[in-house]
Amino acid sequence: MMNSLLANRKAVWKSDCIRYGAVSHRSITLFLITITSYSGYVTVNIRNASTSDITHIKSILSQYILETEQVEENVDQFIVAENGGKVVGCACLDNNAGLIELRSIAILPAWKNNGIGRRLFKTLEQRAKGMTDRIYVRTTARSFFVKMGFKALDNSQKPVLWQDCVDCDKFDICMQVPMVLELR
Ligand SMILES: CC(C)(COP(=O)(O)OP(=O)(O)OC[C@H]1O[C@@H](n2cnc3c(N)ncnc32)[C@H](O)[C@@H]1OP(=O)(O)O)[C@@H](O)C(=O)NCCC(=O)NCCS
Repeated sequence: MMNSLLANRKAVWKSDCIRYGAVSHRSITLFLITITSYSGYVTVNIRNASTSDITHIKSILSQYILETEQVEENVDQFIVAENGGKVVGCACLDNNAGLIELRSIAILPAWKNNGIGRRLFKTLEQRAKGMTDRIYVRTTARSFFVKMGFKALDNSQKPVLWQDCVDCDKFDICMQVPMVLELR
């Protein structure tokens, strides 16, 4: 009788430990999630884009009136950021006869300022290191690229570097700043 009471008490004590263990584990997880959201950073998976991402990429670029016409033919140069299967950002590393240009980097409005743009950039920067000594960009988001280490070039460099700037009828009113990041 005594033995069975003791055994029962031990079992209750053990199950309480497991339960309190689970509660405390859950609390720690909640605490970490809270810290993550306070720091403004979210978890995303960065991966190469595939043809099934074309519509999502175009939809993101369209929100900022960025060029979408060449997404189909260049989709293999794109990477995307996804969260729970939803594509929330994209970026492209274009290789035009050896001139490496970061293009079409954009994050869905509700997902901006969470470190996703930086992660997309860092992924393409790593990729570019095996291909070139410098990355170029033409952008209206100058301050973001300054944070990524880019330096602005003189506007007169655009037609020197890019044939499409020579051919562009909006060259005189274009707001895009040419910038460069030296990788070595
Ligand atoms: C530019 C863009 C891609 C940045 O993406 P993001 O995920 O919001 O940026 P992050 O959260 O990774 O920010 C990284 C750093 O840049 C800063 N930053 C982000 N956007 C910025 C902006 N527009 N101007 C200045 N700084 C900016 C952040 O404050 C952060 O700085 P910190 O590290 O000191 O805190 C995003 O704002 C966007 O989609 N813009 C519209 C599309 C566009 O203009 N694309 C450029 C085409 S070339």
